[in-house]
Amino acid sequence: MQLRRLQNFRQLYKYLHTSEMSVEESKKKAAFAAVDNHVKPNQIVGVGSGSTIVYAVQRLAAREKEEGLNIRCVPTSFQARQLILDAGLNLSDLERESQIDITIDGCDESDVNLTLIKGGGGCLTQEKIVAANSREFVVIADYRKNSASLGEQWKYVPIEVVPFAWKQVKSKIEQELGGEAKLRMAKAKAGPVVTDNSMFLLDWYMGDQARDWFTVNQRIVTIPGVLETGLFVNMAQKAYFGLENGTVLEKAKPV
Ligand code: A5P
Repeated sequence: MQLRRLQNFRQLYKYLHTSEMSVEESKKKAAFAAVDNHVKPNQIVGVGSGSTIVYAVQRLAAREKEEGLNIRCVPTSFQARQLILDAGLNLSDLERESQIDITIDGCDESDVNLTLIKGGGGCLTQEKIVAANSREFVVIADYRKNSASLGEQWKYVPIEVVPFAWKQVKSKIEQELGGEAKLRMAKAKAGPVVTDNSMFLLDWYMGDQARDWFTVNQRIVTIPGVLETGLFVNMAQKAYFGLENGTVLEKAKPV
């Protein structure tokens, strides 16, 4: 009996370990493909945030070393800034670069139109500003993020709000759009998560109904107290998804 339990436990451990490995591998493959296919010498590159972008920065650093790419990198968060500095890449910012050539970033979920939910890691506002000022915006993700419609796998839209107004924004969203908007609480600190912009986050659990994400985004950003939403509508031109079978799926925004 004990032996069987032990075997079951080993199988479970092996399963969890293997699937975790393949997720990381798929992130890496997507990130490497995007960097290799899109980044050219002397470009200004927007660097996204999250766990997948770590691999893109690795690849940028390797290409910088091998080819002398001579790129300048604009970060989308405190984390991205540290990644750029640690990799020895040239750090720039939006004051020095009026136009970014290409931004590469992860997502929490993408639909068929490459409408994205972002902000799972809390960095959505700077990500959106950098992407909006880029000629090209390319998404990198593992296979879990590739959906037909938003909400299939990712259940909430992060919204960055002014702390002073969080309760009013929460009520307005719930009254007008339904669902539930929860203040994101910190894990290793008492109280809420505080973003890179010293704001709070409301995670809006939007429910299962089909929605027009352009209109929803427009409605939320006009609520006083909202800084930005994690809905990226009509922004990404291309997405790379690392698949479980080791290949990379390239998706272009439908015309
Ligand atoms: C950061 O707040 C997010 O927008 C990330 O870009 C997004 O959550 C993707 O993160 P991972 O690469 O960790 O999945």
